[in-house]
Order: sequence, then C-alpha cells, then structure tokens
Amino acid sequence: MTVYSRIAGTGSYLPAKVLTNRDLETRVKTSDEWIYSRTGIRQRHIAAENQSASDLALLASHRALEAASVNPESINLIIVATTTPDMVFPSTACILQAKLGIKNCPAFDVQAVCSGFVYALATADQFMRSGQYQTILVVGAEVYSRILDWEDRTTCVLFGDGAGAVVLQRSDVPGILSSHLHADGSHADILSVPGGVSGGKISGRPLLQMEGNAVFKFAVRVLGEVAEEALAANQLEKSAIDWLIPHQANIRIIQATARKLGLPMEKVITTVDRHANTSAASIPLALDTAVRDGRIRAGQLVMLEGVGGGFTWGAILVRM
Ligand code: UT7
Repeated sequence: MTVYSRIAGTGSYLPAKVLTNRDLETRVKTSDEWIYSRTGIRQRHIAAENQSASDLALLASHRALEAASVNPESINLIIVATTTPDMVFPSTACILQAKLGIKNCPAFDVQAVCSGFVYALATADQFMRSGQYQTILVVGAEVYSRILDWEDRTTCVLFGDGAGAVVLQRSDVPGILSSHLHADGSHADILSVPGGVSGGKISGRPLLQMEGNAVFKFAVRVLGEVAEEALAANQLEKSAIDWLIPHQANIRIIQATARKLGLPMEKVITTVDRHANTSAASIPLALDTAVRDGRIRAGQLVMLEGVGGGFTWGAILVRM
C-alpha cells in the first residue's frame, strides 16, 4: 500500500511586540510610504529579549498539536527549519523536544534560509512515504531581529520574528502530492550572514547583508519556474490551484509570481503586510492564518513556494 502524508493540524505564534514602519522612521532614514510602496510591509513582530527561536517554535507547535488532536508523546520526528537557532548546538529541534517534554523521537534542524520550511516539509514527507514514521512535527521558527543591522535601512525594515508549525500524519491518500527542491550555491554573495564562530570568537560579520535588486529578480524567476515544474509533475493545470502560499518577502515578488501563474490575488495568501519577512516561518505562518480564518478548507489544492539564501528554492503541492 502506498503511504502518504497529510497536514493534520497547523499552528503559529507571533511575539507580542509590534514594530511599525512609523516606529522605524525614528531609527533610520526611511518612511512608511517607501517601505509600503516597495515591499507591502506595514509592520513586523519582534521577539522579547528572553524569547528565542525554540520558545516561538514551542508555542506554534502546541497550537498545531492541539489543532491535530495529537499528544506530544505521539510525535515520531521533529524537524525545525531555522536560520536563527538558539545556539550553535544543540539544534533548536532538540531544544524544542525538551520543551515539549518528550524524549523518544529523533530531532534535527534544516538550514535552507527562507526555503527552510519547504525543505523541512519535503524531508518529513520522504520519511513518511518510506513508512518509517506516522506523526511528524515540522516547524519554521525565526528571530531575524537578532541578525539585522538596525542601522542599515536597506535590510532592517524587511524582516520580522515568528513561528509556524504543522503536524503531518500518515494517510492512505495524498496529502502532499510532490515536492520540488533546488539549490544554487554560486549566488551566495547576494544574500548572506557572512559570519560565524571560530576559535571561540565571532569571525566575519554575523549580520544580514543583501543586494535587494538581484535577489528580487532571482526570486521572481525561480518561483515561476518551480511552480510550473510542480504542476507539470502532477499533470495539473494552473487553474487547479485553489491557493498559492509563496514565501512572504515582498508583495511585488508575490504579485509577479501570481501573474506568471495566471492567478488572481484573491487566490494568494499574503501576510507580508503584518508579518514582514519571517524567513523559514513565513509559509507556515501564512498557511495557519488562512486555515484558521476559514479560507483554506479540506480538499483544496495549495501550492507552497519558498526561495531564499543559498540560493535555495522549492515548491510543494498539498491537497488539504
Ligand atoms: O527572503 C528572500 C530575501 N529577500 C527578498 O526577497 C527581498 C528582495 N528584494 C526586495 O524586496 C527589494 O529589492 C527591496 C525592497 C529590498 C528594495 O526595493 P527596490 O525597489 O529594489 O529598491 P532599490 O534597492 O533599488 O533602492 C532604491 C532606493 C535607493 O536609493 P538611491 O540609491 O536610488 O538613491 C536606496 O538607497 O531606495 C533607497 N532605500 C531606501 N529608502 C528609504 C533603500 N532602503 C530604503 C529604506 N527607506 N528603507
């Protein structure tokens, strides 16, 4: 019998503190008008000083587990996508496991920057299809506020903190139809955090740097290509898509992607105005938002699309 995975529950968490574009006007030479017209962003959430990625992940996970009516003890595997882990090691997934109060499952992080959730969900789906596990917790959790240069107006206005989670369960019918992952490491220089820890000291500059324009063009191209690839693999027409959930970086990238797919914006879930770019958390945050407000319903076809540093990109088609 063929085994598939289905999304049994979704959850998300946003830190209480909201930082508006107007607030940013007092920190750097920018304006609400510039930020909103170039990106579609109005505000972002910022984690409290004592909140780390695993704290955000925990709250999102509890909500997803509750929605799926699953006890933490039933989890067979935890995968956390994050670029802003609590520490060098243990992985944020292991820290999350301990905070969930469970011990008997493997746990690891996936690092694919803004495509992290798509990579993590694709990995979880493969473990499910192999028949190894029945219940998998997949989380995207980020505290980008910690890796931003708050004096660099070209980057600090773009990102926010948050977490989203899904519980995957074994199913006789798909669920996840297919996943399509890509990477091209030769573009590392246009989006990176060029720092690390070496000899017990910080080496390089551990703050985000980006050539916005180059990233923009790359994102629009590959999001169009990988969406076509996912549809062709399933012999589906563009019109079969009920909802598109692209990575939430910039409303203009999202609009261009929707245009390429011939989808009206009414079929696209957007949260970038309220959440800004939460990297690996943006897709599960948007998914949970639209599941909870009743737009995404059982039986509908959803395309998830990510793109980010690496460069990495990918798409997943899911029957809800
Ligand atoms: O998750 C994946 C990673 N990130 C992305 O996908 C982001 C992709 N890129 C983008 O979203 C856009 O390229 C940006 C929003 C980053 C920039 O928009 P743009 O339309 O490409 O603007 P630009 O970089 O060409 O900058 C235009 C001008 C520049 O001034 P000059 O050189 O023309 O005088 C910038 O210095 O806007 C200036 N600028 C700002 N002005 C006010 C840049 N940032 C700001 C700012 N406020 N925050």
